[in-house]
Parts: sequence; structure tokens; C-alpha cells
Amino acid sequence: MLDKINQLVEEIKELKAASAEEAEQLRIKYLSKKGQVSQLFDEFKTIANEQKREVGKELNILKNKAQDKINQIKEEFAASAQSQVGLDLTLPGTSAPLGSRHPLSVVKNEIADIFGRLGFTIAEGPEIEDDHHVFEALNFPPEHPARDMQDTFFIATNPDVLLRTHTSSVQVRVMEKQQPPIRSIFPGRVFRNEAISARAHCIFHQVEGLFIDKNVSFADLKQTLLYFSKEMFGQDTKIRLRPSYFPFTEPSAEMDISCTLCGGKGCNVCKYTGWVEILGCGMVDPAVLKSNNIDSEAYTGFAFGMGIERITMLKYQIKDIRLFFENDVRFLEQFKSAH
Ligand code: PHE
Repeated sequence: MLDKINQLVEEIKELKAASAEEAEQLRIKYLSKKGQVSQLFDEFKTIANEQKREVGKELNILKNKAQDKINQIKEEFAASAQSQVGLDLTLPGTSAPLGSRHPLSVVKNEIADIFGRLGFTIAEGPEIEDDHHVFEALNFPPEHPARDMQDTFFIATNPDVLLRTHTSSVQVRVMEKQQPPIRSIFPGRVFRNEAISARAHCIFHQVEGLFIDKNVSFADLKQTLLYFSKEMFGQDTKIRLRPSYFPFTEPSAEMDISCTLCGGKGCNVCKYTGWVEILGCGMVDPAVLKSNNIDSEAYTGFAFGMGIERITMLKYQIKDIRLFFENDVRFLEQFKSAH
């Protein structure tokens, strides 16, 4: 039996494996329950007692050597597997993609920048509003048909709790807290119960502007909007004001800019008119000043409201408003910008 042990000791010294699987095969061949070393332990039970002392010692040495050798082979493979996965310092790193601002944020920030240069500050108000701030204080009496122009979402069963349909509600919140001079813009999200299509959405964004001071005239409104339009769409941009109606402004107007695509020659963006509408505006109705405790004899003011989606679509020639709400990275990552 000692011969067999010595023979295995020699055999084990020379063991080699070409892969982790082969190393495992070696373990099975020598050390598993039916492996060659284990078999010798079985045989050991049958030998004469006088021999047990000497043979047992050699057998244990064999077992230790076999375990050491096979563990050593296995460790080599484990180490090289690890270096393949994690330790190759020459591998290029995985780069984390740089995010970009949402196009609506880019344009909102640009609008804020432009009006900031004219001295307008920024204020915000709540999206969940009440009838008073969205309608009543803006000269929409109860049952006024103009309320139908804005398809309002009401919350639960209380008709006094609603989602604001325009950022004009922030005009009221600011007038409540502040006496003129007021020169601010109010960006924010608004909600209207409209069918979603390529051109309309039930959620969109507006920027409202309010300027109240002594001797503010329609000419100031016109000049402010002309400056904005040129800064936003390019110095060649022209504006046109058409008479319109809003309960809270008098006189009221809608403003068009010369078409951003054809420059006024006529194309399918401007439906061959050369003009595209971008905002509503007007002189703040004295009744609105009065109901918000501002002296309508001493002060006059103008207000305007524009849709950020619309401005963004015109500026970047985006054909479908739904793209803004789908968060498809392929769309969003095209708007890397300083703003
Ligand atoms: N609130 C109006 C709208 O949503 C826009 C507007 C704002 C008109 C301010 C005049 C003055 O259509």
C-alpha cells in the first residue's frame, strides 16, 4: 500500500490542467468520494493494525498534498478569470451618457433670459387652483360664455377646485401680494380637457407676462413683444397684432410672427399666409386692477400669455406636440443647449 501511496504522490506532483473544468475533473478523480485518494482510505481500514500508524501518516500526507496541488491549480484559473473581468487596466472605461435638458425647459429658460434682460422677474403659482384665481378675479363672471373657451378639469365634486387652464391665475396671485410697479413673467404647466392630437394636448406649458406701472401704454406692449420675437426667432422676424377678445384685457390682441420656416413667403407651416400665431395679449382691464386692489386711475398695465410648446415647435420645426411628453431619448438628446 505504501507503494501505491508513493506512486500517487509522484503522479500528483505532475498534475496540470488547461482550464477550470479540467481542474475540477482532477478534483473528482483524486479527492471525491470515489476518487483515488479516498479509495486508499477505504483500503486503509482493511490493513493490519501494526501497519496503520505508518501507512496512516503517509496517507494523510498524500491527501494534503493532493488537496494543496489541486487547490493551487484551481486558484490560478480563478485569478486569471478575475483579471479578464475586472482587472484589465487597459480596457476603455464605460462612459456615462451626459443628459440633456428637456426642449421645453431649454425654451422656457431662453424666454426667461430674454425677458430678464428687460427687467422682468419670475414668479410661480399653484397648478391646482380655485375659481376665483382662474376666472372670477380675471373678470369672468359666473356663467360668462368665455369660460367655455377653456375646457376646465374640475377636481372631484367640488367645482371650486380645478386645474388652472392658463397661467393668468398667477397674475391674480401676484397682484394680491404686490403693488405696482410689477414686471414679472410666470412660467408654468396648464391643463385643458382637450382631445390629444398632433397639435393639441391636455397638458401644456405657458409663460405669462405682466407689467403694471404708471403710464404703461400699448406701444410698450408692442415694443416688448417685438424685442422678444426678434431675440427668440431671429432679428428679421416681424410681428403683427390682430384685435381679439379676453375678459381680462381691453383692448386685446393676438400676435402673429412672420413664418419661421418660409420667412413670410408662404408654406404649409403658415398655411400659405406668411404668419403664425404665437400669443394672446392686451392692456390689463381696469376692472381687473380694481378687483385686485390696484388703483386703476394711477396705474395701467399690459399682459401677455404664450404657449411654450408652440414656440418650441416653431423654433425647432417639431411637427407633433405629443413628442414632448413621450420622453423618447432619441428625441430629447437632440436638444443639448446652453440654456
Ligand atoms: N390666458 C390667455 C390664454 O390662455 C392668454 C392671455 C394672457 C391673453 C394674457 C391676454 C393676456 O389664452
